[in-house]
Amino acid sequence: MRKAVIFDLDGTLTQSEEGIWNCVRYAADKLGFEEPDAATLHKFIGPPLMFSFQEYMGMDFATAEKAVAAYRERYSVVGLFENRVYPGIRRLLRTLKQQGCYVGIATGKPQAFAQRIIEHFGLSRYFDSIIGPGEHIGSEKDMLIRAALPETYDEAWMVGDRKFDVEGGRAVGIRTIGVGYGYGDEEELRTAGCDVYAATVQDVIDALCPGAVPPSGAFLSIEGLDGSGKTTQINLITDAMERYGYEVIHSREPGGCKVAEAIREVLLSVDNVGMTDITEAMLYAAARAQHVREVIRPAVAAGKVLLCDRFVDSSVAYQGGGRQLGVQRILDINAPAVDGTLPMATIYLDIDHVTSMKRRAAASTLDRMEMEADSFHARTEAAYRELIARDPQRFVVVDATQTPEEIGKQVAQQVLARLMEAEA
Ligand code: TMP
Repeated sequence: MRKAVIFDLDGTLTQSEEGIWNCVRYAADKLGFEEPDAATLHKFIGPPLMFSFQEYMGMDFATAEKAVAAYRERYSVVGLFENRVYPGIRRLLRTLKQQGCYVGIATGKPQAFAQRIIEHFGLSRYFDSIIGPGEHIGSEKDMLIRAALPETYDEAWMVGDRKFDVEGGRAVGIRTIGVGYGYGDEEELRTAGCDVYAATVQDVIDALCPGAVPPSGAFLSIEGLDGSGKTTQINLITDAMERYGYEVIHSREPGGCKVAEAIREVLLSVDNVGMTDITEAMLYAAARAQHVREVIRPAVAAGKVLLCDRFVDSSVAYQGGGRQLGVQRILDINAPAVDGTLPMATIYLDIDHVTSMKRRAAASTLDRMEMEADSFHARTEAAYRELIARDPQRFVVVDATQTPEEIGKQVAQQVLARLMEAEA
């Protein structure tokens, strides 16, 4: 059975207020108007710009035309990318494609802009049609939906966040889903007569593909010497991935679940200075065995991106190198713990052990590992470098002495490219 699903863009696939508001502010400033307040800006999402500039900012027709031109001047270059794909949309689109559905877009946004946005987010491969007002088509939603549909289908759906989407779908005679996470509310969508109200992206998946097995997600790890700035980078990279519609889950090693967090306490407590090296290596592996099964595998199987602060590379570097137990022994100890589960990419925040020592010296409290002599951290650094040299494809190595923003940008670019490549 051929199923067709047509989506609205703004408020359904993407959250676009950032770009819209910045461009309205830009137009107001350029024409010498006061900066509109938050309530006024909010009203600009949805209606045509000509209408909004006149109605909400009191412009006459000619001034509104100039405002629209100023808006478009900024929008066409930067505004259209000041945009976020709603988390889970990638999983929804992948699931639809996996099921062999025809997928299209019917948007009130000029078609060329819609295409550039979809391309920018690496989503082109999921769409069979992208229709917006253009040379040959007006802006009535039912016309756009009709143009976005395939010639033949057995079942078709229109998915959108505003009453225009629901009314348009009904006018064409197809089923409709009103989504509550966009710019319309439940009452508006139900009053318009949607067949299904979906509060979340998951509800859309459940309505369109009940019982579908989610496409698998991805496992990423981040590594570096103590003080390399992992926490800051985890937040920056997560924001970048979420902007592209990935659902990101954080975890850490040692830890990430109850049993492994209890082992973490034992490992890092300064009370346990008498711990032997082999005990230490086995405890890290034991924590990992639990974490892989309880957290990492289920998250990836559910289509999520699991970003883990440290993984088996830390054991190879710290216990294999730092403690001098040797790489092979650490890999052997960890084999049953990892059992084939390895990150598709590993971000390495590159600082040397001298920088690491200086940063550790600035910390108020140190754990059992951080208290180790500098020679231990020097051996750990050397072991990391060997690991990277042995597996250069997997590592994303970034100079972590740059500003956090610069590091974040470089990491995000490379990680996103790999995630998208893996989806292809
Ligand atoms: P964290 O401070 O980055 O959370 O890591 C805890 C400490 O444990 C850190 O000093 C690195 C160390 N470690 C190992 O020695 N081996 C391992 O396998 C892991 C995961 C961490």
